[in-house]
Amino acid sequence: MNSLISHSVAWADIKTHQHYLAQVHLRDLFALDNQRFEKFSVEACGLLLDYSKNRLTSDTLVLLLNLAAETNLQDWISRLFQGEKVNNTEQRAALHIALRNRSNRPILVDGKDVMPNVNAVLAKMGQFSESVRSGAWRGYTGKPIESIVNIGIGGSDLGPAMVTRALKAYHHARLQGYFISNVDGTHLGETLAKLNPETTLFIIASKTFTTQETILNAQSARQWLIDKLGDEKAVAKHFVAVSTARQQVTEFGIDPANMFEFWDWVGGRYSLWSAIGLPILLMIGMDNFEQFLAGAHELDKHFETVPLAENLPVLMGLIGVWYSSFFKATTHAILPYDYSLELLPAYLQQLVMESLGKSVTREGERVDYPTCPIIWGAPGNNGQHAFYQLLHQGTHLIPADFLVAIESQHDLPGHQNAVLSNALAQTHALMMGRTPEKTRDALAPMEQLSHRVFSGNQPTNTLVYQKLTPHVLGTLIALYEHKVFVQGICWGINPFDQWGVELGKQVANTLLPALNNKQETKHDGSTDGLLRYIHRRR
Ligand code: F6P
Repeated sequence: MNSLISHSVAWADIKTHQHYLAQVHLRDLFALDNQRFEKFSVEACGLLLDYSKNRLTSDTLVLLLNLAAETNLQDWISRLFQGEKVNNTEQRAALHIALRNRSNRPILVDGKDVMPNVNAVLAKMGQFSESVRSGAWRGYTGKPIESIVNIGIGGSDLGPAMVTRALKAYHHARLQGYFISNVDGTHLGETLAKLNPETTLFIIASKTFTTQETILNAQSARQWLIDKLGDEKAVAKHFVAVSTARQQVTEFGIDPANMFEFWDWVGGRYSLWSAIGLPILLMIGMDNFEQFLAGAHELDKHFETVPLAENLPVLMGLIGVWYSSFFKATTHAILPYDYSLELLPAYLQQLVMESLGKSVTREGERVDYPTCPIIWGAPGNNGQHAFYQLLHQGTHLIPADFLVAIESQHDLPGHQNAVLSNALAQTHALMMGRTPEKTRDALAPMEQLSHRVFSGNQPTNTLVYQKLTPHVLGTLIALYEHKVFVQGICWGINPFDQWGVELGKQVANTLLPALNNKQETKHDGSTDGLLRYIHRRR
């Protein structure tokens, strides 16, 4: 018997239901039911999720919850929280929830409570950040630190960069944060040009401490510092490391006393709550960082304990499965109407696509249904003047999340209401569209009618929160992390490995010596030809 979820009765029922609902317009669902908003919105953990503008009914939810039951989602949630090795291909637990476990209840991995180590590293991070922020930590020439430069990539960059950007209103006045990720020397070079070596602290962030981009950038930054300050001993005052790999950190030349540890049960894209969050902590301070952790912990408790039908990540996850696998929507847009979240789409690209961009189940069986959508997006109002044309009148079904703050970080008169009016207007217009009749009444020379009609029926979630505080941001990120988990379970996918990133790395390792030594290779006609062309032009 085939073990794919698509061969279950629950899946078949949803398929049948989708054939019917595909013919129904959202505006008719609203016309039929004036309680839709009340029925299809949930408020929890300081967030309101309005999912009423989705192409679903109460029946849809029942069927999706049947699917969740069929996949034993509730059990899987318990297994995640109990520290079981849910990452089966790497035989690891996935315990980002332990990093923000403010209740401190014991969480066991291989029979050992991880909380004492989690708390010890957090305390060490707190002491270090306090000494940098207070000015007690001095650079090699005796000056306090002014610039924090995080060197890392993927999970060791995107999360901390996004959160640091989002919480700008909470930054220490003396400190400036920079994030270097790209191996293109332009990224590091342009940043170094702005920095004073005497007042710069580099954080080398890498779970493995073997990532090519990070190690090369770290080596170049180290050389730059030594050249500028004229002494290798300066490194001890200007470099710290965040890693699981003590030996590699030592070999690189960073004193293990200046290393902040984390563990193999923290996945890269789930690591911003660990020592990988050090740049965040340095910029916003311990009280705010603890608020950030507490926000995520609140959402964790919600995910673990609230019935699936009212559970925010479960609802968002199931709705996502509904669109990807049954409506065959290929993308999902992230549209923050909160400029501070400008890096959220890039962060979610890794979180979602590195977790779910897979086509075999955890048992290695090839799936026969679409899984992860392509994640993309940009801050709200800017997008309206760029790609929303396609959302309104293109040929694709594009589910979208609108993230909306009631209060902004600034009190410039008139701005926040302008933001809110646009956010509400867009979800309304995307959903309702404009019929030919209404278009005719409204305006339009008749010959332009078809150009001015909007078919509508574009589904959106709206997530509303009071203000983007550290606490709220913690809940938002945890919400998306758990949404990914829910979808992984529904699709039978392990969301915690990333074998798909390996092949490119291996090939690059064979091309680098060929480039360094001007050699030819035997890859394929195109690659070999491109290499020869580059050699010739050098
Ligand atoms: O190549 C992908 C990846 O392995 C990500 O999963 C990870 O977040 C990133 O590289 C960086 O890895 P590291 O922290 O080990 O340098």
